[in-house]
Amino acid sequence: MSDHLSMSVPNKPEYVNVIRLTASSIASRVGFDIEEIDDIKIAVAEACTNAIKHGIKNDQENFDVEFYMDCDKMMINIIDKGVGFSLDEIEEPDLINPKEGGLGIFIIKTLMDEVNISSDIGNGTCIKMIKYLGVDI
Ligand SMILES: Nc1ncnc2c1ncn2[C@@H]1O[C@H](COP(=O)(O)OP(=O)(O)OP(=O)(O)O)[C@@H](O)[C@H]1O
Ligand SMILES: [Mg+2]
Repeated sequence: MSDHLSMSVPNKPEYVNVIRLTASSIASRVGFDIEEIDDIKIAVAEACTNAIKHGIKNDQENFDVEFYMDCDKMMINIIDKGVGFSLDEIEEPDLINPKEGGLGIFIIKTLMDEVNISSDIGNGTCIKMIKYLGVDI
């Protein structure tokens, strides 16, 4: 059975750092090393920024962040009830001729061991990401 901790976060960029620091402190409790903690912080910040920048259009609406801590892994869910998007429209970034933007989801998938995105136009987005202890990628 894993421990879990949930936060309801205001839809404002200044709170992304609060979530980054919370993720960092939980990840260090689980036992991740400094590099892995940095990866988790970057992935969490990208997902929170997406919820704020693309998802929620109403200033007064919060989004949710859930952390699940296990002996061998950490799972983070970032859930917004915003506009949602079509996963089919997300293109793989062209790393040879990079464009500006469009890298967040790619970065999250690169840094975390498992990533699952579900999104529904008009109903919002849930991104689940897992990092396992002691797995080199
Ligand atoms: N939570 C979300 N709600 C609605 N749309 C989203 C959400 N997350 C991602 N998207 C859509 O997916 C696209 C790709 O997201 P991604 O983070 O990869 O790139 P970006 O945010 O456009 O650019 P970058 O993250 O590099 O600044 C976004 O442009 C947006 O259309
Ligand atoms: Mg992004």
